[in-house]
Amino acid sequence: MAGSRGEFSSRLGFVMAASGSAVGLGNIWGFPTQAASNGGAAFLLVYLLLAFLLAYPALMAELILGRHAHSNAVAALRQVSTHRLARGIGAFTGVAGLTVAALILSFYAIVAGWMIAFCLSAVAALFGLPPVADWLMSFGLPRNILLVTVFMVLTISIVASGVQAGIERWSQRLMPALLLTLFILAVYVLTLDGAMDGLRVYLMPDFSRALSPELILDALGSAFFSLSLGVGTMLIYGSYLSDRENLPLLGGIVTLVDVSIAVLAGFLILPAMYVALHNGVEIFAASGALISEDTLIFTVLPELFATMGLAGTIVSLTFFFLMSIAALTSSISMLEVPVAYVTEQFDRKRRPTAWIAGAVITGISCLILLNFDTLFGLVITVTTRYSQPLLGFMFCVYAGWIWHRNTLLQELKKGYPQAQHSLFWKVWPWYVKFICPLIILAVFAHSF
Ligand code: PFF
Repeated sequence: MAGSRGEFSSRLGFVMAASGSAVGLGNIWGFPTQAASNGGAAFLLVYLLLAFLLAYPALMAELILGRHAHSNAVAALRQVSTHRLARGIGAFTGVAGLTVAALILSFYAIVAGWMIAFCLSAVAALFGLPPVADWLMSFGLPRNILLVTVFMVLTISIVASGVQAGIERWSQRLMPALLLTLFILAVYVLTLDGAMDGLRVYLMPDFSRALSPELILDALGSAFFSLSLGVGTMLIYGSYLSDRENLPLLGGIVTLVDVSIAVLAGFLILPAMYVALHNGVEIFAASGALISEDTLIFTVLPELFATMGLAGTIVSLTFFFLMSIAALTSSISMLEVPVAYVTEQFDRKRRPTAWIAGAVITGISCLILLNFDTLFGLVITVTTRYSQPLLGFMFCVYAGWIWHRNTLLQELKKGYPQAQHSLFWKVWPWYVKFICPLIILAVFAHSF
């Protein structure tokens, strides 16, 4: 094998990396805007319930499978069973997962490139370079290709440096920066006129909207996307964990951080929208509903920042910087999935593998950009709506049905000697066996 396997050097390193993967554009943008249009605090409640009752058990399936195998998803799923067919399906699921991770990264990098463009545009404005600032804000192919490449080079450089020197070190730097920026921005926006209206919408529950079956199923998809489930990301991070660690505890912390940051982001985005409304920017469509999510971020917020003069430029810089960091800590976890597979399975060196895999994914991003109208939405729908829940279903089936219960318990006991008598062990095995697959199937059926 080309070099020994990486391992997180500390518990904190893992928590930062795994929550870095989970916390991304999905939390900071997706959750608050969905909450805004779907019953505010009632949606928040549904989201919290789903995160802890469904996404957490599914996350645990990936972490335990990964830590047990100390290898990539393909090898991990294959070694769960001795039966030929189950091994074959397991390996196929792992390969499908890494393909989907690569495809998610190909569209995610495009959106992240826009975030960097908006951030750099604010920098250019501060330096008195309006033509550069305008170019960066315009939706042109050269700009998009340039920034997708910049973002991918950042992602590849981190992954190429390995688990400790790359993923762990950068997650430990970027996650505190993200939290601090989010907090400062939220406090600032809450002092502006109109912010309290946004807060009211966020915190007043409207159960009539949040309890529709359609919405619950949508929230489920977002919970999966938000915790980076179904593509082997959490499995591979779990495989870099030492046997001394208590898995249910660590998984719980990651879920809690993910949910808390989504909730905190709500305290920034919702008030910001209503500050924009107060400043004369339109945030509702003719139907009375909020205008769509991407329009909100790419037109409403910049318009809001423009009404705030110099302060607006600085807030804009900070906001899009925050979004870029959030995207980066998630994108490294996506690239790690195919890179870990190729280095381990084909005995390749990490650095060249990361650059080659990253270059291929950048190529796919460019292909999407060249056929934007047809491919962008299609890739998002196929990967996040259909593939993630279906693959998540497979991970649960392997942990709940194929894997021997006793081996599973022994794995848990390594870092948690009392596991057998815990509430976790009383509930989780049944949960991951029956409830998770059933709910995921319901989501999947609904997507059709
Ligand atoms: N969890 C990330 C977010 O909320 O933006 C998205 C994501 C990361 C999805 C990693 C899939 C993945 F493998």
